[in-house]
Amino acid sequence: MRIGILTGGGDAPGLNAVIRAIVRKATDIYGHAVVGFRNGWKGAIDSEFETLTRESVAGILPRGGTILGSSRTNPFKIEGGVERTLHTLQTFKIDALIPIGGEDTLGVAAKLHEQGVKVVGVPKTIDNDLSGTDYTFGFNTAVEIATEALDRLHTTAEAHQRVLVVELMGRHAGWIAAYAGIASGADAILVPEWPFDIEQVCEDLIRRHHRGRNFSIVVVAEGAKPLKGTLVLQSEETDQFGHVRLGGIANMIAPEIEKRTGFETRVTILGHVQRGGTPSAFDRVLATRFGVEAIDAVHEGDFGTMVAVQGNEIVRLPIAEGVGELKTLPRSIMEVAEVFFG
Ligand code: F6P
Repeated sequence: MRIGILTGGGDAPGLNAVIRAIVRKATDIYGHAVVGFRNGWKGAIDSEFETLTRESVAGILPRGGTILGSSRTNPFKIEGGVERTLHTLQTFKIDALIPIGGEDTLGVAAKLHEQGVKVVGVPKTIDNDLSGTDYTFGFNTAVEIATEALDRLHTTAEAHQRVLVVELMGRHAGWIAAYAGIASGADAILVPEWPFDIEQVCEDLIRRHHRGRNFSIVVVAEGAKPLKGTLVLQSEETDQFGHVRLGGIANMIAPEIEKRTGFETRVTILGHVQRGGTPSAFDRVLATRFGVEAIDAVHEGDFGTMVAVQGNEIVRLPIAEGVGELKTLPRSIMEVAEVFFG
């Protein structure tokens, strides 16, 4: 068989480990050929790919990013994108595809499968918000990076008796914020799942100061929202299209905390450092297990599936089922975090 692989969407540490695992098992064990499309679905549309061999994937296991490049290109949103993708697969005799990506990339895979393309998906996102799998690789690394940053911010917050508001990634779900916040002993954690009351946050911070701790760490996921009507935007600055320019949620709440508590407050937005660099050992192992399972599924002809981890077992499930819903934080995790607020 000739198998195509691609990596789409935001990168996640562990992508190269998946690529290596697929190539090694496909070529060494099964004798299949593997090609890698450049920059996600864009490479499939434009017929840009390279042959991947044992030699070309040597040494990539601990490397961050993806040797194939990534993009957020969606063939269904581009004129002729689907036809060109199908043409590429036919012309270059690609028998099966393994897209590695989040809900967008795998959503495209599910639709292509309905059109007869043989696909096996591999889930990926540092946000850990894909249903069907308990964990996605990249999440553990992001939590490690964020936790280290929060530990460092603790010491400077303490030295200056400040409140530090730290914004972490998590557009729709607060997994990174909750895990890194609990791991580092944050004093407040604000996540998209439950709108926050800024007054309550400030009361907790003041109570904490009264108990003799005169510094605080507030962790906020980038997608966190205030309770309706509780917080008015500070800035009326607009861009050229008239949209209010938000500096990120942390920049929005920090002046509010300073005003309501009187505590000097600073902001750190961790940003893409959470996605960069070498994957943790946990993510390397998970990514390798996903890659091996994906090539097994292709070899067995089990198409329209994606691999996932449930408990400590690697399983396969229909792609549409795996990416159908957002996996949000369970309330039980926030209840653990809340024990340490205030
Ligand atoms: O989905 C992964 C993620 O890192 C989110 O946490 C974040 O909101 C988004 O990607 C950032 O996207 P971009 O890299 O395109 O700015």
